[in-house]
Amino acid sequence: MAFPAQRPRRLRTTPAMRRLVAETDLAPRHLVLPMFVKEDASEPVPIASMPGVVQHTRDSLRKAAAEAAGAGVGGLMLFGVPAVRDARGSAGADPDGVLNVALRDVKAEIGDATVLMADTCLDEFTDHGHCGVLDDRGRVDNDATLAIYAEMGVAQAESGADLLGPSGMMDGQVGVIRDALDAAGFPDTGILAYTAKYSSAFYGPFREAVESQLRGDRKTYQQDGANLREALRELALDLEEGADMVMVKPAMAYLDVLRSVADVADVPVAAYQVSGEYAMIEAAAANGWIDRDRAVLETVTGIRRAGADIVLTYWATEIAARLGEN
Ligand code: PBG
Repeated sequence: MAFPAQRPRRLRTTPAMRRLVAETDLAPRHLVLPMFVKEDASEPVPIASMPGVVQHTRDSLRKAAAEAAGAGVGGLMLFGVPAVRDARGSAGADPDGVLNVALRDVKAEIGDATVLMADTCLDEFTDHGHCGVLDDRGRVDNDATLAIYAEMGVAQAESGADLLGPSGMMDGQVGVIRDALDAAGFPDTGILAYTAKYSSAFYGPFREAVESQLRGDRKTYQQDGANLREALRELALDLEEGADMVMVKPAMAYLDVLRSVADVADVPVAAYQVSGEYAMIEAAAANGWIDRDRAVLETVTGIRRAGADIVLTYWATEIAARLGEN
């Protein structure tokens, strides 16, 4: 028998053969587009560290949401950038707050064409930039924060959010929001739990996007990048508290965590390709150092392969449109 007898290259010979044996699919429905809306903006404002991403006006948000829905994306995740902040992040739960207004706008524009999600967190709304309220010693007060998350979650459900994304990493946040939704008559509003959200350098550009007021870091509530077992504990707690879906974030530096969570979770698993992951590829491509379009698909396919049913990515509309062309 001639050597080599085994020739894996046979399955790579033509595009048709490669398509036939592809193990991982990427479709528009797998993608969720995170979007920013800025209160009182008269024009969309470019975000320097995220070329191609803007802080939307109410109008441009509606248009971009319709475009994303038209391209077939699975969902939209909205973040608000308020004009005024305070210590308690009051604008988050205010029905007239920027995010709640935007949710109503987008719901009116797209209906149920795609799933509408809201960031349920205080960091965009507080004048100190933390994801929760502070106690008299300046520490993030877990339980006082939970009460505000509950209020905020109900306001978002009332405004038309289908899924809430509590991203603050407070203990008990999923349970308290679930109870509040049920008590307020929103048993069908779901929760996408930020189960394993790590304290990460890759959120840098997002902080510009939401004009974050944070000094210091979020290490007393976001997870330490050294830990995997801890993510599985957070997973068990989120499921116990009623999470409908779970998320790992960031994606690229935590693909092993994603795989471990996907192996045991009995709910859909999402991963968030965060702002810094976006910025790195855009910056390298702008310098001519990598092939942008290939890198975009390669990273998102990798996140799917590692176990994500759903990928949040700032390229969602673009990728969906490209997939639609093929
Ligand atoms: C907090 C939140 C953050 C991101 C999503 N939700 C920032 C943070 O935790 O500092 C980051 C997303 C990204 O970087 O793309 N509400």
